[in-house]
Amino acid sequence: MKTRKADFIKGVAQIDRLPETKLPEVAFAGRSNVGKSSLLNSIVNRKNLARISSEPGKTQEINFYKVEDKWVFADLPGFGYAKISKGKREEWAKLNFEYLEKRENLRFVCCLVDSRHDPQPKDLALMEWLMNNEKKFLVILTKCDKIKERAINDRKEQLEGLLAQCPTAMEILPYSSQSGLGWKQLQQILERELA
Ligand code: GTP
Ligand code: MG
Repeated sequence: MKTRKADFIKGVAQIDRLPETKLPEVAFAGRSNVGKSSLLNSIVNRKNLARISSEPGKTQEINFYKVEDKWVFADLPGFGYAKISKGKREEWAKLNFEYLEKRENLRFVCCLVDSRHDPQPKDLALMEWLMNNEKKFLVILTKCDKIKERAINDRKEQLEGLLAQCPTAMEILPYSSQSGLGWKQLQQILERELA
């Protein structure tokens, strides 16, 4: 795995504070604890670029990173973390969706889904929202090192079935931040989509 140059730009909790940039951007979205920050670190092959926690809800702002001075990554706060207050949760959701709706340099969204479980209502709601808002998205199955190859294929087929009629869905990519599964394919997708 190649190490890429990456710098933290800033963390943003308010929609009017987004960094101004014309660089092509990709957003990483998914439920809390699904492995977004780990995925970001694995893409650039660095341990501590994005903060990882076994405690869900660690990432409370949209964190922006500049990669190789040519791409911007946006790590979105996890959707639907249950243990925080309802008000706070709604605030996060509002920030996420406003960002996804309005960000002009956003090329596509990586939608992270835990490979070990059936897609949850929050996962489906996100994908449905992306489809209805004509946003292109890639589904990344996370933590694939924790299940057998057979189960990975079953999960992939399940999601392919669910998304068969969705014109904005790209592909379903099995991934592991630990084993490196899917790393090369993801690099190719990024190179292609952010060109
Ligand atoms: P929030 O920021 O709280 O929304 O979480 P997140 O989606 O950024 O998840 P994070 O990357 O912090 O990972 C959550 C937990 O899952 C951590 O304990 C990680 O070590 C673990 N994890 C993430 N990716 C993988 C993976 O590919 N394999 C395995 N085995 N564990 C993983
Ligand atoms: Mg995180």
